[in-house]
Amino acid sequence: MALNDDWRRRSLAAVWHPCTQMKLHEAAGAAQPLVPIARAEGVWLHDFEGRRILDGISSWWVNLFGHNHPAIRAALVDQLHQLDHVMLAGFTHAPVVALSERLADLTGLGHAFYGSDGASATEIALKMSAHHWRNAGLPGKCRFVGVAGGYHGETVGALAVTDIALFREAYAPLLRLAATVPSPDARQASPGEDADAVAERAAAALGEWLAEHHDQTAAFIVEPLVQCATGMAMHSPLYLRRARELCDRYQVHLVVDEIAVGFGRTGSMFAHQQAGIRPDFICLSKGLTGGTLPLSAVLTTDAVYQAFYDDSVARGFLHSHSYTGNPLACRAALATLDLFEQTDALSNNAVTAARLAQQLAPLTAHPRVRHARRQGMVFAWDIASSLPDFSRRYARHALAQGLLLRPIGHTLYAMPPYVISPEEGEHLALGALAALQATLAEETGGAARSTGGVDSV
Ligand SMILES: Cc1ncc(COP(=O)(O)O)c(C=O)c1O
Repeated sequence: MALNDDWRRRSLAAVWHPCTQMKLHEAAGAAQPLVPIARAEGVWLHDFEGRRILDGISSWWVNLFGHNHPAIRAALVDQLHQLDHVMLAGFTHAPVVALSERLADLTGLGHAFYGSDGASATEIALKMSAHHWRNAGLPGKCRFVGVAGGYHGETVGALAVTDIALFREAYAPLLRLAATVPSPDARQASPGEDADAVAERAAAALGEWLAEHHDQTAAFIVEPLVQCATGMAMHSPLYLRRARELCDRYQVHLVVDEIAVGFGRTGSMFAHQQAGIRPDFICLSKGLTGGTLPLSAVLTTDAVYQAFYDDSVARGFLHSHSYTGNPLACRAALATLDLFEQTDALSNNAVTAARLAQQLAPLTAHPRVRHARRQGMVFAWDIASSLPDFSRRYARHALAQGLLLRPIGHTLYAMPPYVISPEEGEHLALGALAALQATLAEETGGAARSTGGVDSV
């Protein structure tokens, strides 16, 4: 059987890996080693030589109930025996109907429209919003506004509302101009201020922007409670309440991108629910299938749906992807939703997250940690380090500890699968601290500094 090095060599020759400078993998003693994985179970990834690595970031935030979950696997096998795929234009099937009904029950929105990855959900929400205004006789409302540091995917439309320089710069000439307003990131609080004060300030800036530009603006898009890809920037739910009020006042759609934070990650089923608001669009993906298959969905209001309902074909939403509403992916999503109910996942998560916070207390207390923060099952720490490549170095040391943790710039974070046991939590906490100590030991002098920009996700 081929071992790690064989797979590494073949992969580097044949595969162009995502979000990666391939040269970093290829140099001898690679700065960023490529890790071949043979199988996975629960929180563990297993390589081809019998080593196991705890998946501390749920494989880019998709996995909820552990890898290779028997209930999701059984649902997929059962579905494979019935219907693998059928196009969703002109056809329908049981999994897509059942999933749409359940998502409507959970969100209070409906008319589920499916894509594959998160970025396709963003594209769908933006196109639907602008097309809605066009159908409503307001074609000038076709611009978008997002939040500084926001991330909504990397296809050309989604990238236009993504505000992360590293991902945008090379493609700037391709991108439609979208505006950004200041982030409500609670780390910006001045002494004596709290997260609500920062939220009020950021909301005031959004209000000023909308006052001036609402007649050209279709939608405001926001990652509720945690802006993940910019480095787990967290904000008060007050910001979302203010955003809802402003969007109502100025006739602008509120799009909540729950792709990373949905499905229990922040402590509630959906993050925006902690603000008690109802958005005009919700984008879902990642955890939707429990981390097994690509699927995304956009849900919206009856009012938006009705603006498309017409005798004219051109007034319909003429958007599609070949695998829209794939039955296997929908079955995986249904099995995932069943697990939420059967395992009382939200209540259990609160207990698990509190336990993990205790286990991680020594890391939180480390003298180089700034802005230790948590929202549900998202844990983050900014690390004051002079190492410009802190993230890569840390990830390598974490791997040596049997841990998948990839800091974003100087922000170390953990987003483990919800099923992490006390013993596995201990492995995560001890390994994360040991990796930090090993990384900081590589500093060759120079003042410790706080955050850098995003250099990987
Ligand atoms: C908030 C948010 N929106 C959209 C996306 C894009 O999702 P995908 O990578 O599946 O295209 C991501 C991915 O990290 C995300 O975090």
